[in-house]
Amino acid sequence: MRVDYNVPLDDEGGITDSSRIEASIPTLRALLDAGATIFLVSHLGRPKEGRDPEFSLRPVADWLAARLERDVHLFQNLPGESGFEEEARQLSAGGVALLENIRFSPGETKNDPGLARALADLADVFVGDAFGVAHRAHASNVGAAEVLVSRGGLALAGHLMEREVESLESKLADPARPFTAVMGGAKISGKIDAIEAILPRVDHLLIGGAMANTFFRALGLETGDSLVEGDRIELAHDLLERGGDRIVLPIDCVVSEEIARGAEALVRDRSEVSPGERIGDIGPQSRELFVRRIRESSTILWNGPMGVFEFPAFREGTFDLARSMAEACDRGALVIVGGGDSAAAAIAAGVAERMSHVSTGGGASLDLLAGKSLPGVEVLRAADGRGAP
Ligand code: 3PG
Repeated sequence: MRVDYNVPLDDEGGITDSSRIEASIPTLRALLDAGATIFLVSHLGRPKEGRDPEFSLRPVADWLAARLERDVHLFQNLPGESGFEEEARQLSAGGVALLENIRFSPGETKNDPGLARALADLADVFVGDAFGVAHRAHASNVGAAEVLVSRGGLALAGHLMEREVESLESKLADPARPFTAVMGGAKISGKIDAIEAILPRVDHLLIGGAMANTFFRALGLETGDSLVEGDRIELAHDLLERGGDRIVLPIDCVVSEEIARGAEALVRDRSEVSPGERIGDIGPQSRELFVRRIRESSTILWNGPMGVFEFPAFREGTFDLARSMAEACDRGALVIVGGGDSAAAAIAAGVAERMSHVSTGGGASLDLLAGKSLPGVEVLRAADGRGAP
């Protein structure tokens, strides 16, 4: 079972956000109830060369063992190493084992056929539940599934994979209207394909975060020392022309000389930002405007925070919108939260549980929203084995 346990760790190796592991539990439980013996495969971070204890999945194995109230054996050997097969044989029927970080194997990111075969040798069935890495074609999420199917085995989507694709693709294909997208975060560049794909489909596109600064510049406004993507101003201009009044920009903002914890912040009209000031959040009038649009909407897609929500002075925009989306959801609207920063913001605002769906994928959810096909999903579709295990 390929999972995405690429979770954030603190300096002591403690897991600071376990949502990705928690999201895999329904599939794990279903497989255990069916009597399966499970080899879990995941990456963690981007280790440079071979084994690096800093990127060990040990904290995840411990977390899982406590959550499942059973032993979770963490492999000491990597696929292809002499002790690997022996270690695999020792797992008793109905047991759960977690392979050490698969990116310690140099073949993983190259989708190496030898590594794919060594992984396929472990099992009769491949379960793909690693939505977060589905935009990559690696040995453990694509190659191994292909080998297994070519040998007559099964490749199935897990519950999480099913839910992600259903929420981000099927449910947004013909959304109940009005359909509002809320886009934020630092940069337009990483989200341009998603914005381009979404713009013709939405009734409103609310833009906040540092991304809005580039749009302000396209309107000829002064943005002080704020983050701006100079090479995207033209693109922002073009999007504004195409989007017309469907694109809603903030009308005021929270500024400060520095974006830091304890920084002193002021509210400014967007036309009054001075040299030396930095924009850290959308202002109160923009919050009101955005919340009004959210309240009227039947479908809401959220990707990216409205400000630097990690610091109290700049979090109200993100938190206010997150709360209004949760309320919209309580009233029956469909609210889909793209992964990454917006998922972290929904958790920080204490409303993640109330949303219709909070994605576990960052890059993968953006690619899916942009209409791109994801190798980790396509391999399961090609195997015709979609459906819960
Ligand atoms: C993620 O966190 O986005 C996924 O786990 C993919 O990780 P990667 O960007 O290192 O491939």
